[in-house]
Amino acid sequence: MLVMDANVVEPHGAVASQSLRDSGYDVVASTLTADEKKKTLASVESLYRAMLAAKLERRSPVIALGGGIIGDIAGFAAATYLRGVPLINVPTTLLAMIDASIGGKTGVNFPLPESNDLGKNLIGAFWQPRVVLADPAVLLTLQRRDLACGLAECIKHAIIADAALLQWIHDYAGEILTLVVARWEELIVRSVAIKAAIVAQDERESGRRALLNLGHTFAHAIESISDLDIRHGEAVAIGLIAACEVARSLKRMAPDEFTLIHQTITRCDLPSLLVKDCAGAPMREPRALDLDLERACADQLTVDRLMQAMAFDKKVLDGQRRLVLPRGLGAAEVVDDVPEQFVRAAWRDIGARDDRS
Ligand SMILES: NC(=O)c1ccc[n+]([C@@H]2O[C@H](COP(=O)([O-])OP(=O)(O)OC[C@H]3O[C@@H](n4cnc5c(N)ncnc54)[C@H](O)[C@@H]3O)[C@@H](O)[C@H]2O)c1
Repeated sequence: MLVMDANVVEPHGAVASQSLRDSGYDVVASTLTADEKKKTLASVESLYRAMLAAKLERRSPVIALGGGIIGDIAGFAAATYLRGVPLINVPTTLLAMIDASIGGKTGVNFPLPESNDLGKNLIGAFWQPRVVLADPAVLLTLQRRDLACGLAECIKHAIIADAALLQWIHDYAGEILTLVVARWEELIVRSVAIKAAIVAQDERESGRRALLNLGHTFAHAIESISDLDIRHGEAVAIGLIAACEVARSLKRMAPDEFTLIHQTITRCDLPSLLVKDCAGAPMREPRALDLDLERACADQLTVDRLMQAMAFDKKVLDGQRRLVLPRGLGAAEVVDDVPEQFVRAAWRDIGARDDRS
């Protein structure tokens, strides 16, 4: 079963399915739309139906050809159909190559209780791919915005494990965004090495793997506000800034370290603020999302709502708020009981409105 992203069918899907046929495989193709609102159990169900109709057996592999959304949905279908069939990931975005396709996390979004907000990746399974096949050439058809999103996860990897990589991304961001393939290859190899090493130490996230969630507690809360037109990588970029703001308040990060992270995010064409000019938001060379400012400020992006969404984060343990925070550059830790005032302040810093202040 070849599960394809609708946007990659045209440039890459035909090549993939022909090459499988040429190698003697029967190919059943299924197409999905890469949309967070459709990263749901309903999409998984549509795959189950197609798999059953095609009489897929226990040993019939599922190949996910697409970005992280397709990989997560197809991966979860592979993990659960007949209690699990082999999965092969063929990531076609930078983000999926260096992050989503590696490590075996699969899953879908699910509505939060008493709201229409989508809880990110709340339903899922660990299911390791048998093979991950990343060909940087497929990134040539990716939009610049999506390329930048991949850089957000590369920056995250660098902050938690490789300070030199952060400086490298800072220096070469321009070349990476202007399609210098040799830089992509180096970036992918270095970034995959970080993710793979961490996952190899802690496959089921009982310890060190949680560090890969740096910035994600904030990012998932932002993404849960489903009316926002925001990509995962963009939410991660803003979430990284928020986590670093908290780290700075707790004296875990020096001002020049914070500045390097902020500059790198900006040079990668990623947003560092939620809205362009919110009261309370510092205006340091910000690039904000192109949101309807008034609506966003007035109705949606309140600290209270974002704090509420944070409570559904998978890192919550015994009801305690836990955050991954950097310690300088190249290291990070899970920190329990971060004082609420610092978290609220970080939300304000990135542009959320705080009715209590
Ligand atoms: N499982 C994990 O460990 C893990 C890790 C990180 C992120 N994720 C998930 O990954 C998702 C984000 O993944 P993403 O950034 O790849 O987004 P995505 O899957 O939405 O892809 C981004 C866009 O690029 C298009 N696209 C994909 N490949 C293309 C190509 N080669 N040429 C042209 N267009 C192409 C897609 O159709 C989409 O419009 C989120 O849902 C996130 O939760 C999962």
